Amino acid sequence: MTEIVFPNDANPLGNVMGGRIMHWIDICAAIAAGRHARTPVVTASVDQIDFHRPVRVGGVLVIRATVNCTGRTSMEVGVKMWNEDRATGERSHVASAYLTFVSLDPDTGTPRRIAPVIPETDDEKRRYRQALERRARRLAQREADEKDA
Ligand SMILES: CC(C)(COP(=O)(O)OP(=O)(O)OC[C@H]1O[C@@H](n2cnc3c(N)ncnc32)[C@H](O)[C@@H]1OP(=O)(O)O)[C@@H](O)C(=O)NCCC(=O)NCCS
Repeated sequence: MTEIVFPNDANPLGNVMGGRIMHWIDICAAIAAGRHARTPVVTASVDQIDFHRPVRVGGVLVIRATVNCTGRTSMEVGVKMWNEDRATGERSHVASAYLTFVSLDPDTGTPRRIAPVIPETDDEKRRYRQALERRARRLAQREADEKDA
């Protein structure tokens, strides 16, 4: 996905707002998750987002999302955003995030089983392995939070 930062996307310093970055990350990730599931999908959670550098009004943002791993009805999507220099085409890292989406049955609105993602390249296998580790940590954290509640 590619976006241009307009004045309406900026904070009073003339840089893109963090909330707008999160919005674009969510949209790009939702498109990737929906393409995998071929059903409506909802954002279940977003892991930590770090903003590495500011982007000025007029900046071009390139956003890439990949489905890293799948559970029964959920999937982890990794998103990376770069600022592309218009003159040179050079890209610098702006932000990254991991999001979990859940596939919903269009008739009932309840979680629906999805096809597993099958990693093929070395990069996909690495992302898959790391995503499974993050999924295990998330599940353990949710279990601990539920016990505290
Ligand atoms: C996300 C949601 C559908 C999960 O429903 P639920 O009744 O808890 O469903 P389940 O307990 O059966 O869990 C379904 C899957 O979601 C995962 N999940 C649920 N809550 C999660 C969370 N907070 N973070 C990550 N994964 C989560 C479960 O691990 C499970 O994954 P799996 O099937 O791959 O093992 C429900 O909580 C919801 O609708 N939330 C609101 C979503 C929303 O409005 N998002 C913003 C707008 S898109």
